[in-house]
Order: sequence, then structure tokens, then C-alpha cells
Amino acid sequence: MKNFEKYTRQYFPVKNPPMRWAQKDYVDHAPIWCSVDLRDGNQALINPMTLEEKLEFFKYLVKIGFKEIEIGFPAASETEYEFCRTLIERDMIPDDVVIQVLTQSREHIIKKTFEALEGAKNVIVHLYNSTSVAQREQVFKRDKKEIIDIAVQGAALCKQYREKASGRYLFEYSPESFTGTEMEFALEICNEVIKIWEPDENNKVIINLPVTVSHSMPHVYANQVEFMCDNLINRENLIISLHPHNDRGCAVADSEMGLLAGADRIEGTLFGNGERTGNVDIITLAMNMFSQGVDPELNFENMPEATEIYERVTGMKVYERQPYSGKLVFAAFSGSHQDAIAKGMNWRKDKNCEHWTVPYLPIDPEDVGREYEADVIRINSQSGKGGIGYIMEHQFGMNMPQKMREPFGYMVKHVSDNAHRELMPSEVYDIFVKEFINIQSPVTLKEAHYTQKNGITAEVTVEKDEIEYKETAQGNGRLNAVSSALMKMLGIKYDLHTYTEHAMEHGDTSKAVSYVGITDESGKNYWGVGIETDIIDSSLKALFSAVNNMIAE
Ligand code: KIV
Ligand code: ZN
Repeated sequence: MKNFEKYTRQYFPVKNPPMRWAQKDYVDHAPIWCSVDLRDGNQALINPMTLEEKLEFFKYLVKIGFKEIEIGFPAASETEYEFCRTLIERDMIPDDVVIQVLTQSREHIIKKTFEALEGAKNVIVHLYNSTSVAQREQVFKRDKKEIIDIAVQGAALCKQYREKASGRYLFEYSPESFTGTEMEFALEICNEVIKIWEPDENNKVIINLPVTVSHSMPHVYANQVEFMCDNLINRENLIISLHPHNDRGCAVADSEMGLLAGADRIEGTLFGNGERTGNVDIITLAMNMFSQGVDPELNFENMPEATEIYERVTGMKVYERQPYSGKLVFAAFSGSHQDAIAKGMNWRKDKNCEHWTVPYLPIDPEDVGREYEADVIRINSQSGKGGIGYIMEHQFGMNMPQKMREPFGYMVKHVSDNAHRELMPSEVYDIFVKEFINIQSPVTLKEAHYTQKNGITAEVTVEKDEIEYKETAQGNGRLNAVSSALMKMLGIKYDLHTYTEHAMEHGDTSKAVSYVGITDESGKNYWGVGIETDIIDSSLKALFSAVNNMIAE
């Protein structure tokens, strides 16, 4: 890359940071969650949501448990104003949900914002102005004192308007572009706003520390958050909020480390929608907690529903590998992974495990509404006996003998390899049917009669190439006797080494499934499966299927 020298580090790391947060290893409780899907998220869409779509999304956010929802910037456009009014006038905001609105620090905007909120019961007014070096110098062309004045004047106006308002109003202040701001200055401006708002126990103030653009590694941000938490005045009456964007792909790490460093609240979006690379993905954050035994206090038990609503109303797509929600995030194609998962699942069942420790699966897919069979074990040319056996057993009730799984695995692999595509479970089953079940050609069993004296004697009639053959032979059981008769009449030799059977678990449960494995003189194995109501008939069908497979070769 030839232009790397054009870039420099634009952040202000804390000098000698205490880094107490680095002693902790996980987030042990849910933060206050605030969804900014309807503002930051919507602001970043190619086609912003319509009123109806926003209303549907709002209801969904409430349903999954958000208690704080930023609904937009009512003074910025008619649509945003109308959305705010509709929520209030249709009485759609539950009493335990607070709506949050964004405002710049300008009187006519603050005035219009408060007008839009008339009749609302619980509101957070979110005031922001930009504080970074780049924004101060290039955009606002103001010095630090002038930037503080903007914030302080806005804060004072909010306070004045709140006096006339009827609902319960809390305030939030964001030094926008915090991560490009000198820490001493960010602290100073926040403290000036706090002085105006005078938070107390019943009237806390939210100080939001946005990663408007991400410039540094997450530990640098965590140190900045720790610095602010340690030095803001009246800290006990503040709620420290984080609002990470994802430019460096670190929004989740920024949030988690920021929480360790003392933050109380997270602003983010579902699936990480938002400006440029997006806001932090609240689903990932919440599910990270969940996967470590912490209740995230948001409900993602039906992830397919979350995905469907999100994709429909935003027009965005959830990436196949999006943590916890992507279509492929639980899928195992590789044979060894499938094998480990299948074994892990059995181990879990046998040991009646309390905690989830299945290899390769950070959480139980069923906890987010995904199906183990459909979403986890996926069959393509890289798959193996473990996964294929699992599908046959759990989806089709076919508990194949262990020794049969490998050759069947190879057959499936071969089909997938030639087709250059994944195979659906039904296609795997079709291969099984075609290769093994009730194969009656070239040799068909016509009749078998038994007499019992010194073991079993079987008198067997078969048809091969339209000619009937009869033979009698002895054995220690019916299957064995028929098998001996068959070898005699066809002039073939094999060793019948495997016979297992079980009742059908799927479909016609009155039927029995039998599996027969034979080895020819060269040592090659052949398999057959029989399905019949009568268990003897089913074992004979399995035997004939195996023998026919041998003859066919
Ligand atoms: O990213 C950002 O800084 C914002 C502010 C308005 C909080 O969205
Ligand atoms: Zn933002």
C-alpha cells in the first residue's frame, strides 16, 4: 500500500492509565440498553424507513425488551416529527419505555424538539455537539471555549424547556467525536454540562461517550472511558453511556471493554446497522453475555423473526456469518467438526450436563430459535460419517450400524462432489433408499419356508433373470439358513458379519428396519437394509439388498 504515510493516529491515549478494567474478564451484568435503530440506524439506510415500518420496528424493539429507544431527530424532518407524534398520540409507548430524541444545541431546534414531545410520559432529550480537533478546526472553526459555550447554552435551553414540559424528562449529553478529542477537553466540556444540569439521584444525567469514528484499539477506548468515569464530577448521579461505531471492526470489543471500564449503558442497533460500518451490534453484545451465563435482559429467542423483520423494514441483509444470527453461524460442513458436535451432543445427553460445552457451538442453536438438524449439520463434499449418521438417525430414524456409516458417508460425499453443491437431508435419504433399502434385483426372494429340527432348515425360492431357483439349507436361525441356501444356489461366498434391527421411529412405526453387512472373499463389505412389518421379512430384505449390491458389482 503506497499511501500509508498519509495517515496518522488521531486519538489521545490516556497517560499512565490505571487499567483496573483489565483485571476483569467478562461483563457480569446487562447494561442499560438503548436502541438507536430508528435514528442512527435509519439515518444510514439507502431508503429510510416509512412511518409504518418505523412503527412496526418500534413495537418489535419493545417486544424484545428495550426500555430506552431513540426514535429520531424530530426537529430535523417532517417524517421524524410525525413519527414522534404518532407514537405519542396513538399511545404506543408503554409506561416502562422511555423514548429518546436527538437535538443539536440550537434554540429553534430544541424548541421544536420539545413541541414534538408534548404529551410524552418519559423522555430522554439527547443533546450533542462535536468536540474533536478535526471538527473544531475544520467544520466549526471555533476554539475550545466557543465549543464549550455551544454545549452549555444548549444544556441551559433544555433545562428551561423542561420546566414547562409535563412528562418526566432526563437529559443526555454527547461530546460527539469523543474519540478524536483530547481527554482533558472532553472531560471539561462534559463537566460544564453536568454543572448546568445538576443531576441528582432522581434526576440522573447520561453522559454518552461516542466512538463517532473509531480511531484506536479497544483498550485505548477503555482507558478513555475509565478516565472519564474517574474524573467526571457528580459521578454517582451520572449514567455513563457508550455509543461505538464500527470503523475498525471493534465496536463489540469497544463496548465490552468500555463496560468493564465502568460504563453503565450501551447505545447500538440490531445487527449493527448504522452509519458507514454501523453501530455496535446489540445482538452480538447481548448474546456474548448470554453465552457466558449472564442474562442480557433482551430476548433473542426467536432470531429468525428478528432477522426477518430487520431485513424487511430496513432493506439491509444479515450477513451469513453475522455472529449468532447469520444463516451459517452454526453450520458445520466438515466431517471432523460434525463428528465432534454429534459426539458432544450425545455426551451432553448421556451425562445430563447442566452447562453447554458442545465443541464448535458457542451456544445451543435452539436457544435462538434455530434447528439443530436444519442449521448445524449441513452436508457437502467435506462432510463425513458423523454428520451424515446424525442426520439419518435424528431426521429419518435410521440408526445405522457404526461400520456402515463410513461407506455411506463416502457415497454421499461422492454425490455432493459431482454435483458441486450442498445436499439437502432429503437427498441424503434418497441416496440411502436407492443404495440400500429393499433392493430386489437381480435376485428376488419369492418364498421361504422353515422347519425347526437341529437348528433351522430353510427352503428358499428366488428368481434371477426370470428363472426360479430353489434350495434348502440349515442355519442357527432363519436369516442364517436363508443366507446359506442363497450362497449354495448362486454359487457365491460371503461372511455375514453384521445384523442389527430396530423399530421404525419415523413414518410407519409398525415396521422394522434391519441392517445386514456381508464381506466377500476379497474382503470387501456390502450393506443392505430391509423395511417390513414382519421382523423376519425385514431381515431377509436386508440380506437380499446386501447380496444384490455384491452381485451388482
Ligand atoms: O455517532 C455519534 O457520535 C452520534 C452522536 C449523535 C451520539 O450518533
Ligand atoms: Zn452514532
